[in-house]
Amino acid sequence: MKRTVGALILGLLTVSGCGPGAQTEPQRAPDWPDWAYGVLTPLAPGDRVAPPCPATAKPIECAYIGAPVPDDGIQRTLPGTTESFTRNEAYFDYGPADWYPGDHPPMPEVVARGKPDEGARACALCHYPNGQGKMENGHVSGLPAAYILEQLAAFESGARRSADPRKANTNEMAMIAARLTDTEKQQVAEYFSSIEFRPMVRVIESEQAPQVRTTSNGLMLPIPDAPPMPLGQRIIEVPEHPERTEFMRDPRGGFVAYVPIGSLTKGERLVTTGDGKTIQCGICHGPEQKGFGAVPGIAGRTASYTMRQLWDIQQGTRQSPQMAPVVAFLTAEDMLNIAAYIASLAP
Ligand code: HEC
Ligand code: HEC
Repeated sequence: MKRTVGALILGLLTVSGCGPGAQTEPQRAPDWPDWAYGVLTPLAPGDRVAPPCPATAKPIECAYIGAPVPDDGIQRTLPGTTESFTRNEAYFDYGPADWYPGDHPPMPEVVARGKPDEGARACALCHYPNGQGKMENGHVSGLPAAYILEQLAAFESGARRSADPRKANTNEMAMIAARLTDTEKQQVAEYFSSIEFRPMVRVIESEQAPQVRTTSNGLMLPIPDAPPMPLGQRIIEVPEHPERTEFMRDPRGGFVAYVPIGSLTKGERLVTTGDGKTIQCGICHGPEQKGFGAVPGIAGRTASYTMRQLWDIQQGTRQSPQMAPVVAFLTAEDMLNIAAYIASLAP
């Protein structure tokens, strides 16, 4: 692990049996970007980590399952729709709210309802019916169908997992991929790939960010009325309309990313020239980073998602022969600058 050479090492934390292909966790350097995994503090002994998730587990057993939330019965609605749902209807694991049926083609069964008998929750729960997703999972709309199939295979084989043992939803994602039939994989790949990915991040360079709390899945929500906190070398992403995202799971809702001052210019240089440390991204991801053939677009992704992928690839928990040389010599700060700039681009 070249990253930890000469660095203060928090300790070699080993975690047993999380997700397919579980192995010894990488050592953690002090520049580890916890923020990208939806947490604000470094992994410490005694922290809650993802539940053990052997290959025989149902995907839902890999998730953090809290006590059921009593339904408050309040019918909520959103702008531009006549639909209304209670919080618990919007959160229903096997048929979550579809606020804007006109925004997407008819959903395949597994997207709309998942596989209840197998404990595989609906794709639409986490990625939304329109595939826009959120910072703690990722968008799947507009990705090349071939790439979606590749990633489902990578999750299933263990070639793609999270470098952070606290990230239960990545384990669950991997287990869901393993429960899909070939026909279902084909259906979901074609479905999400046919939907246009819409802009979802507004980037603000700032010295401060809202104080946030984090959900167990890694969504950050601003604490109402709290004074701002220093941003430091982090990116803090919060929903534009926190209540709509938290209670209604608004699939049209976007995010605001607070990024360090100067990060956009530095990120642009790395992305467009390589800056002597990496390879120009556009060679493979297309001139505007909107994708090329089976190589996915990266423009306009949430900054947390991009950072997580670059970091996972460097740690080796997401195996990618093509991306490994791209990240080999990047520091955490370089990757943060790249993630900020990529988030600011129009998809
Ligand atoms: C419990 C929430 C959850 C559910 C349900 C879920 N996913 Fe995911 N998915 C995730 C998370 C989390 C990630 C990103 C993990 C990471 O950070 O690497 C992800 C990533 C993906 C990716 C990779 C995207 C990319 O750009 O590489 C694809 C493809 C995907 N999911 C497809 C699906 C499909 C298809 C379904 C339904 C069959 C589904 N997901 C159901 C949480 C979920
Ligand atoms: C040599 C070709 C190549 C270059 C150069 C390249 N990439 Fe990639 N990148 C890929 C391929 C192929 C994938 C998807 C498949 C995989 O994981 O191997 C990918 C995946 C990614 C992903 C994950 C996308 C997702 O949906 O999860 C990110 C983020 C990314 N690249 C960022 C970058 C950045 C930033 C740069 C420039 C600094 C860059 N890439 C340069 C080929 C490349």
